Amino acid sequence: MLVYNVVIAMNRREGMCVGVQKQSVYLKPNSLFIIMKLPEKIVVLSGAGISAESGLQTFRDNDGLWKKYRFEDLASPHAWARDPELVLEFYNMRRKKLFEVEPNAAHYALVKLEKKYEVQIITQNVDDLHERAGSKNILHLHGELKKARSTVDPSLVYELDHWKLKPGDKCEKGSQLRPHVVWFGESVPMIEPAADICSMADIFIVIGTSMIVYPAASLIGFVPQDKTKYYIDPNAFQVGDVSKLTVIKKKAVEGVPELVNELLNK
Ligand code: OAD
Repeated sequence: MLVYNVVIAMNRREGMCVGVQKQSVYLKPNSLFIIMKLPEKIVVLSGAGISAESGLQTFRDNDGLWKKYRFEDLASPHAWARDPELVLEFYNMRRKKLFEVEPNAAHYALVKLEKKYEVQIITQNVDDLHERAGSKNILHLHGELKKARSTVDPSLVYELDHWKLKPGDKCEKGSQLRPHVVWFGESVPMIEPAADICSMADIFIVIGTSMIVYPAASLIGFVPQDKTKYYIDPNAFQVGDVSKLTVIKKKAVEGVPELVNELLNK
C-alpha cells in the first residue's frame, strides 16, 4: 500500500521548516513534503492622526487636546487623586464623541490588507475605530475608552455601553470605577508584547503619530533593520537612524489606502 506522510512545514522567516531533515528519519521513503510559505507579517503602529478624519481630536496638533487642556490636570494619577469628577468628565466628553463618530478610509483600508498578509495593529488610540472597521488583531497600548476598571483590582475591567461614567459607579468589590486608560506617570503593561510583535514584523507601518510619547515611540527600534518601514503622517519625518524607512507626508485617509493598494498588488 502506498503511504503518504504529509508534512506541513512552516516557518515565518524562511518559509520552510527548520529541522525537516531531522524529522525525516521518521518518515516513509515515499513521504510527500508540502513546504508552505506563511503570509508576511505587517505590523501597524497607529496614533491619534489616523482617527482625525473621523472627527476625533489629536493631542498635539494646533487644535489638539493638549493644546487646550493640561494633561497633568486630567490624565494622571495625581489628577485622579485631586479631582476625580473632573477626570471622569474629561473622559466622558471624549467617550460621548466616540459614540458619535465612524471609522474612516484609513481604518477600512487596513482591513483589506488581511486578504494577503498577517496584520497586527498596535494602537496608541483609546478609540475602537480599528475594531469597528473590522481589523482582527488589535493591541491597545494606552487602554480603551469604552472600558472602565476597578480602582482596587486592575484585573476587573468592564465594557461600557454608554458614555457616562459617574462618581459612585463601582466595581464588584465596591471601589469607584476609573477609565481603563494609561495615564501619564503610569506603566504601560502592553509594551512588552508590543515589542515582541514588532521584532517579528516583515513590514512596519507607522500612521498618524507624532512619535514623541515613550515607550510607544521606541517600538520602531524593535523592528529588524532589514525590514521595510513606512511612516504616513502629514508631519512624518525620518526617525533617528531607522533604516529602510519611507516617509509619506500625507493624511491617513489618502496615504493609507494608497499604500495598501501598493502592498496588495506587490
Ligand atoms: P499626537 O497628537 O501627539 O500626534 C498626532 C499626529 O497625527 C501628528 O503627528 C499629526 O501630524 C498627525 N495627524 C494629524 N492629522 C492627521 C491625519 N488626518 N492623518 C494622519 N496623521 C495626522 O498623537 P499621538 O502621537 O497619537 O497618550 O499621541 C501619543 C499619545 O500621547 C497618545 O496615545 C496619548 C497622548 O498623550 C496617552 O493618553 C497615554
